[in-house]
Amino acid sequence: MEADTKQILQQALSRRTIAVISHPDAGKSTLSEALLLHSNAITEAGAIHGKAGRRGTVSDWMEMEKARGISVSSAVLQFTVGDAIVNLVDTPGHADFSEDTFRVLAAVDAVIMLIDAAKGMEAQTMKLFEVCKARGLPVITVINKWDRPGQDALELVDEILTRTGMRSMPRNWPVGDSGHMLGLLNPEAMTMNRYTRAPGGAKKVLAEKLSAETAEAEYPLEFQTAVEESSLLELEDQFYDREAFLAQEATPLFFASAVQNIGVEELLHFIMEQGPPPQARPDAEGTPYELTSDFSGYVFKVQTGMDKAHRDRIAFMRICSGVFERGMVATHAQSGKPFPTKYSQQVFGRDRTTVDTAWPGDVVGLVNASTLRPGDTLHAGQSVLFPPFKPFAPEHFRVGKTGDASKHKQFRKGIEQLDREGVIQVFYSERRGQQRPVLGAVGPMQFEVVSSRMESDFGAAVSFDALDYSVARDIDDEAAAILSERQDCEVLYRNDGTPVALFRDPWRLRTVQRDHPHLLPDPPGSATSASVSARR
Ligand code: G4P
Repeated sequence: MEADTKQILQQALSRRTIAVISHPDAGKSTLSEALLLHSNAITEAGAIHGKAGRRGTVSDWMEMEKARGISVSSAVLQFTVGDAIVNLVDTPGHADFSEDTFRVLAAVDAVIMLIDAAKGMEAQTMKLFEVCKARGLPVITVINKWDRPGQDALELVDEILTRTGMRSMPRNWPVGDSGHMLGLLNPEAMTMNRYTRAPGGAKKVLAEKLSAETAEAEYPLEFQTAVEESSLLELEDQFYDREAFLAQEATPLFFASAVQNIGVEELLHFIMEQGPPPQARPDAEGTPYELTSDFSGYVFKVQTGMDKAHRDRIAFMRICSGVFERGMVATHAQSGKPFPTKYSQQVFGRDRTTVDTAWPGDVVGLVNASTLRPGDTLHAGQSVLFPPFKPFAPEHFRVGKTGDASKHKQFRKGIEQLDREGVIQVFYSERRGQQRPVLGAVGPMQFEVVSSRMESDFGAAVSFDALDYSVARDIDDEAAAILSERQDCEVLYRNDGTPVALFRDPWRLRTVQRDHPHLLPDPPGSATSASVSARR
């Protein structure tokens, strides 16, 4: 099929590629399901996750790994709304997997940030806002669980402003306090939606639109309060400024009860009408690579063992430009080698379907893509390279080993594989040897995933020895030569030969920096120097 420029642009324009992100338990899975419900992709809430799929504890997480529920494995849910298409890209909920979340956010064009009405801004919420800022991602904020007692609406708006610098542009406003929600005001139309809740929230909620007169007559105090409060946020008579949303100066704000499907319809309409479609993606030099260029795609996630029966390995790729056609032979930009695309799939819950054609914004799962790793580029025709991921600086370190000498080969193979997938960072040194690599994690739960995957996928049980390091810095060969002579740090190497220095704490890093300032400059925005000098 020869796709012309117009067709590519039309297809891209009709797509919205987004992620729902939040601190755990704010309702990410519940809202994702409610969005599917409203788009008629599913007919019952709970159809995809099921209660057992909800996370929260370590055991839930690992259980879910085993159950392969969508939150871990599906990567993307595609559904249609009218003539348009939404690609809802899934992110891990737990802070320990924030590096995965960061990678996934490289595949979307906007995010829905969920905030629990009772808890307000939580630790992970703040981190995620920062990541979105760094990535230039427009944020739609949803204050969820308004059906339960929580904080004051204006206080929540104030908290968002003071902690993120973004003003809120309310797209709806609650009539009634949290826990006593009577409905939602549409501040532009001055109407109120009153909802008839279905038992358990299993089916779509029914909305009844009340005129201002009716709403005022029925709820004189609450309706007036809602009108007054929402108008306090009005800026020069303007409720909404799309440019400010896209430039991350302001965030469109929704109040909702995801579990009751309240506020979800409005949110979905907003995404379709105002959400950004795919744009030209900057290449490694920062030059935008036009949507209408030859096919290009960006690998953001690699997942193994999704289908236990086949032990396969899927690389998830976002289409950045052109048209993807199954069977085409693309080029793997990192190796320059041809990459056949015969097995390309879309994953929905546990179901998979073959993808024949995909357009900018879509996500395709490439099966048995053993050479691909997160951050890789595939392209056809003209050559392009998108910027690779910079690994997060790990903060938890352990030596990994297997007690069974007959399993050394499986152990090495498994560790290398998990390194390639980005499950854990792996460092070697001659002194420690290949059978005793140092594993570095952003969050300790990553070690549990390593343990479980090594045993189930590679048949090599691992044990860990704790290491007393908490800071890592990528260094160059000159620094490696000098620092390896010191006793207060350790030099190790990534698989690609990049040297890394590990320190017990920021103070020891500071000491080494004082002795060799040119070897270890602080990366821009690094917290290490700031926090150390503040504590001194
Ligand atoms: P997460 O993916 O962000 O971690 O959150 P998840 O959707 O799993 O929701 C966490 C808990 O919050 C769930 O309760 C869920 O039912 C509840 N929840 C989500 N949205 C709302 C809402 O709008 N209002 C209220 N009141 N609760 C909400 P749970 O007890 O952990 O699980 P379950 O037994 O209810 O499924």
